[in-house]
Amino acid sequence: MEELKGRNLVLGVSGGIAAYKAAELTRLLVKAGAQVDVVMTEAATRFVTPVTFQALSGRTVWTDLWDARIGNNMAHIDLTRGADGILIAPASADILAKLAHGFADDLLTTLCLARECALMVAPAMNRQMWEHPATRRNLAQLQADGVAIFGPGEGDQACGETGLGRMLEPEEVLEAVVAYFAPKLLVGRKVVITAGPTFEPIDPVRGITNTSSGKMGYALARACVRASAEVVLVSGPVSLPVPPGVRRVAVQSALQMRDAVLAEVPGAAVFIAVAAVADYRPAQTAEHKIKKSGEPMQLWLTPNPDILAEVAALPQPPFCVGFAAESRELDAYAAAKRAAKRVPLLVGNLVQDGLGGDDNEVVLYDDRGRHPLGRATKTELAWRIVEHLADLLAGGTQQE
Ligand code: C5P
Repeated sequence: MEELKGRNLVLGVSGGIAAYKAAELTRLLVKAGAQVDVVMTEAATRFVTPVTFQALSGRTVWTDLWDARIGNNMAHIDLTRGADGILIAPASADILAKLAHGFADDLLTTLCLARECALMVAPAMNRQMWEHPATRRNLAQLQADGVAIFGPGEGDQACGETGLGRMLEPEEVLEAVVAYFAPKLLVGRKVVITAGPTFEPIDPVRGITNTSSGKMGYALARACVRASAEVVLVSGPVSLPVPPGVRRVAVQSALQMRDAVLAEVPGAAVFIAVAAVADYRPAQTAEHKIKKSGEPMQLWLTPNPDILAEVAALPQPPFCVGFAAESRELDAYAAAKRAAKRVPLLVGNLVQDGLGGDDNEVVLYDDRGRHPLGRATKTELAWRIVEHLADLLAGGTQQE
């Protein structure tokens, strides 16, 4: 999905060891569809050469305020004309100080002063520099000036210390940039999402589960964060990383998932039940590993609670979105499920399309009827589902 298609960005690279991460960031921004003009400070060129950025951006890299290649010799102004934003990553303590005070003593700082577009910074510095009162003051000033600040993260630092000050990983910076430009469709709303399979224990080492990968639920969690929602992801066992900005509550069984959901739903505006919850669980979980006897064995199963139906039946339910995975007759089953569980929006997909893969083909069912979204990546479908959901929350004004 080209989330930044049509966006013109100036990527400012300042002098810090994290400059190497800016190379990967350039690649990701370009892959996401942005046109990227890289501007490096003198110090940045000591860490990574302009050639690297030129190759990755496919465009000239700018380092010098006095560059004579621009016709009117106004590099400091021309580069941001038509740009949607300047992103400085890594942003050193030094450049943050300069920006906070309005210095304009090289190309990048001059561009930042002579701009009409957005300014985003991803700080990167040693822990003590980050915590220094001067940096704190500068950050507060930049925030007051409307500058978007992404990170920093916590962890090992190049100096051998550990703490706050690491630049966010390139994928996280990309996500923050995409979210920055995305419409704030769910701002101020808490969204609770279930995702992944459940695991119903038979004994300490065995259990019943299914092949749900969690990808659709995780994609929805990302899309909701992008739309500025507060997102809680109640997730069964999957091997996916926690999307940036998401609070994940990890669970195993359907009963645990139910408890976690009921604890999170108060105050939530939306509940999206994507998880492939096991319909049944073993009636009893053996305390010790069941020994092989060679004889046939019976396993008694008992039905699990229907989390979605239970939430939808609360006295003041959040807006509930269900998923239906069917292997045939999607329309009939989906409509029946929407009615039985009393959910206003149901997302239907044929299991042979959706389970496990990166792509899916879904149809939305609501009071207004049937809305096929066609085939697309789960990331793209997640965004379209969020758009549809936001429209319904706003009273359904969108024309089909
Ligand atoms: O009834 P079925 O499992 O097909 O319904 C699918 C929808 O209901 C999905 O949104 C799923 O997450 C939700 N569900 C649930 N709790 C269950 C079973 C399904 O929340 N125990």
